[in-house]
Amino acid sequence: MNYGYFDDPNREYVITDFRTPVKWINYIGTLAFGGYVDHTGGALLCKGDPMLNRITKYITQLPASEFKGTGLYLRIPETHGKAGYRVFSPFSVPCLNRLDRYECHVGLGYTRILSEAEGILTDVTIFVPRGAACEVRRIRITNQTEEPIHVDVIPVVEYTHFNALMQLTNADWVPQTMQSECVEQANGLKVFKQYAFMNKKTAVNYFTSNIAVDSFETDRRPFLGENEYGSWANPFSLQQAHLSNSVALRGDNIAALLHDLGILKPGESREIITLLGQEASLEAAQATIDRYRNPDAVQAALDEERAFWDQFLAHQQVNTPDPAFNTMLNVHNARQCYITLHWSRYLSYYQLGYGARGMGYRDSSQDVMGALPLATEDSLALIRKLLSVQKKNGSAMHQFNPLSMVGSEGDSLEREDRPHYYSDDHLWAVLAVSHYLRETGNLAFLDEIIPYYEKDRSGQPVESGSVLDHLVRAVQFTHIDLGQHGLPLLGFADWNDTLNLPKGAESVLTACLYATALHELIVLAVHLGQSALVDRFQQYYEEIKNKVNQYAWDGNWYAAYFDADGTPLGSKHNANGQIYAYPQAWTVISALAEGDRAKMALESVSKYLNTRNGIKLSTPGFNGFDPTKGGVTTYPPGAKENGGIFLHVNPWVIIAETMVGNGERAYEYYQQINPAAKNDRIEEFECEPYVYPQNILGDEHPLFGLARNSWLSGTASWMYQAGTCYILGIQPTLAGLRINPCIPPQWDGFEVTRQFRGGMYHIHVHNPKHLCQGVRQLLVDGHVIQGDTVIAYEEGHHTVEITLEE
Ligand code: NOJ
Repeated sequence: MNYGYFDDPNREYVITDFRTPVKWINYIGTLAFGGYVDHTGGALLCKGDPMLNRITKYITQLPASEFKGTGLYLRIPETHGKAGYRVFSPFSVPCLNRLDRYECHVGLGYTRILSEAEGILTDVTIFVPRGAACEVRRIRITNQTEEPIHVDVIPVVEYTHFNALMQLTNADWVPQTMQSECVEQANGLKVFKQYAFMNKKTAVNYFTSNIAVDSFETDRRPFLGENEYGSWANPFSLQQAHLSNSVALRGDNIAALLHDLGILKPGESREIITLLGQEASLEAAQATIDRYRNPDAVQAALDEERAFWDQFLAHQQVNTPDPAFNTMLNVHNARQCYITLHWSRYLSYYQLGYGARGMGYRDSSQDVMGALPLATEDSLALIRKLLSVQKKNGSAMHQFNPLSMVGSEGDSLEREDRPHYYSDDHLWAVLAVSHYLRETGNLAFLDEIIPYYEKDRSGQPVESGSVLDHLVRAVQFTHIDLGQHGLPLLGFADWNDTLNLPKGAESVLTACLYATALHELIVLAVHLGQSALVDRFQQYYEEIKNKVNQYAWDGNWYAAYFDADGTPLGSKHNANGQIYAYPQAWTVISALAEGDRAKMALESVSKYLNTRNGIKLSTPGFNGFDPTKGGVTTYPPGAKENGGIFLHVNPWVIIAETMVGNGERAYEYYQQINPAAKNDRIEEFECEPYVYPQNILGDEHPLFGLARNSWLSGTASWMYQAGTCYILGIQPTLAGLRINPCIPPQWDGFEVTRQFRGGMYHIHVHNPKHLCQGVRQLLVDGHVIQGDTVIAYEEGHHTVEITLEE
């Protein structure tokens, strides 16, 4: 079954049944001001750090039927001579009334909910105008009946304490601080202030509208009524002619604004705009309030939003025979890359933003790699931040707050008996920088001076280095951080956070990342003519290649780890965790896999790890807690990193398959996790079909196929790269654009429009012989270029014709 459909021309997903298995969300605004809005109108909004400055009280863990953060009530008089009102919500939640029509248009930067109940059509568009610290809701009400109807509209916001954790930890101090105020403005309109006394500064949350407010509540108690034995589903106050105009000086602060729209004739529409924002003072907010009370300004801001996405998506558009593939790459996957770039793992329906985690070093490095062709400048800004939390010794802080730039060692500090660093973080940044250089050709960036993380007492960095120096130090760190087999030490963990082996363990994945980073630096050094670096890194590469092949080859696949005593994990000798997917993928990507081993390793992935819902991270899962293995054993078999389909790993295998020329299998793996392709059997998957989740339960789990942790996953970046750079083969290189597809043989061909360094390339690949790959010549603007070669960058529009040949 499905809960909606893709509307590609409008770049929307349209939810048509609001009873989705879990809430499906959409992002509005940015980390500077924004958050997410769910498909029943609830919204979690923050300004800056979601832990330190949260605005709406959105408690994810409450049932789906509950009021969350924001909502909308409508009421009309009872008919047939009955007293009172029929109160309902156009989002159904929280009244849980029947809707005769429901559509939630999940758009790029906005959500629009259209519904019909009691003969009233409500059309609400929710978004944050670019650059504004204010959520705008444009609410259009139409009387669809043959009779005149008197309609009242009551938008409601529930505030939280600005300190998100404090809201949950103290039920006296917090309500004692919560205060609201009603301010009547010269134009007769009211603004409702709610004070946020943040540690050293104060701020004002405000809620207002562009028409007169009949009456209001700012305290939840009188709104729900009878000491809150009234409920969000049925607030007793809405049976009174007017609200009580309560001004809360404590308690659970809300803003419920009753607007009397008067009588709407049959077919008549009225519009109201609400604004929810935060500024240092009401005075500071006034310009924004004045601006967006005007419907024309709201429409202009929506147009601006659309124009932004037009431009963003135009960087790369594809046209293949597979509509689900096109939908994801052209709209939703590209958009998810933008979201992960900016929101990292900060705030989602699953990642609640209560911790001081900030951004992950490895997460952001990988997010950058997918987003680079689409948001080059934003990616560069993040790269600079990443390099500035790299340490002098070349390793990196595991996490950092992008606002304060304070770093942390993450969970590695939690266990005294484990090393306090992650072995992979710094290496990902080498790949991110190398992607940036290949995308832009901006080699001058290598000379830019960026400080290392360590600071002196006055907070000044103690050492700085060029970007190239940062990259060299990163590989040098790993070069000397080796264990008994000459493989990199694991540290607290590698990319797999949950495998926390005792001190002295070695990681094959880190060896592969190290080799890939070396490879990128060798290509760069060759390009720069730095032969000493080339020779040094070539030697390092050969050394690690020998070690991995000497010790980690297990017969049919590569082992993943060596314990401190030299015992392998990810080996046929293990009862649990016999085979891991990522060493197989990465030995191929790094070209460490020798001879037939690349194909054999990938065959083993197909044989032991593949399922119809995706490739499992490992198998068999551990069953029961084992402190010598760490976090992975806290999950039941089949969940998350313990034998679950941890999606992030899937695109790595897809990429590896294209590298051995297996376009058929690469595509099959792509298809089996493409959420858009799951749209019609969503009851198993449960999450949004328009974004990649982080995890799906594996076949060792009774709920095989169930997805969770949608949106903020590195899967977005890697699936975008797998689809565009590897299956379609659009590969930026230092010298120009290389086109090297590895497609399913059944495709007759495909087209890509790709912006590259200011040039626009219209690429047509023909596949009359139904091959996977084979670029023997290119026709660029009518000129033949022999061989599988790169197209040197030139400004302007260019046509590229390729016919795959044996
Ligand atoms: C999620 C974390 O954000 C990421 O850094 C890690 O690599 C994966 N989990 C795998 O453990």
